[in-house]
Amino acid sequence: MIKFTPQILRFDSLPSTNLEAARRAIDGAPEGLCVVASEQTAGRGRLEREWVSPKGAGLYFSIVLRPSFEQSAWPLLTLMAAVAVYEALLDSCAVQTDIKWPNDVLANDKKLCGILAETVETPLGRAVVVGIGINLTNHAFRNEIDKVATSTEAVTGQKPDLEVVLKALIGSFAMYYQTLQTSDGREVIIREWSRRSSYASGKRIRVANGDEILEGTSRGIERDGALRVETFDGEIKVIRAGDLTCLRASRRSLAVE
Ligand code: BTN
Repeated sequence: MIKFTPQILRFDSLPSTNLEAARRAIDGAPEGLCVVASEQTAGRGRLEREWVSPKGAGLYFSIVLRPSFEQSAWPLLTLMAAVAVYEALLDSCAVQTDIKWPNDVLANDKKLCGILAETVETPLGRAVVVGIGINLTNHAFRNEIDKVATSTEAVTGQKPDLEVVLKALIGSFAMYYQTLQTSDGREVIIREWSRRSSYASGKRIRVANGDEILEGTSRGIERDGALRVETFDGEIKVIRAGDLTCLRASRRSLAVE
């Protein structure tokens, strides 16, 4: 069970907090070690994408975990982290968000936060680094992604205090991580995630995974965090990877938003 007297390591600049946390995990860092940087020069997103991380514009945070539960449940760490972010943003900035499977936290249908969980082999066993990037101001991303990204400042009209957001995040992360480790933790996290996500069920979506495209309606979360999608011919598919977009019903057809 995670002990949250969190040790927070702060850096002015790092290539990536995930990389630093992984390095520390290999050196034997305990569960709960947090790495925070004011800027990242090589911030990483899912699918090898860049996470633009200019100084002071976002919260760039990573935490080392050494989960003792079975590895089949590890994908739920991403869902659990998204629930923690949801609660932290509500508590610290009064920002209401939505969660898009598997790892995006949205405000007004635009991306406010991304989560990247990576496994790392260490002498103490396989560990997980969960990285969280929250856009605090619109300087956190380039103008060309203005249409798809947002920040807490854009939503509330004021730049939040990073320390307040960080404290709320560590508190909610610790709580939901503990929940995940209880006997019915998987079911609780799936339920909590589903309550906060408009994508969990009944949403018309397109899933792109490389060249594979699937369209249908979301039908809930499997026990390991995968998304069930009912195709338009009634078949249930289980999705473990991919990028989701929302399909908006128009009179003639479905348009991608
Ligand atoms: C995504 O949506 O693609 C995930 C983005 C994750 C970004 C965070 S910022 C802190 C941590 N360090 C990284 O290099 N990436 C994660």
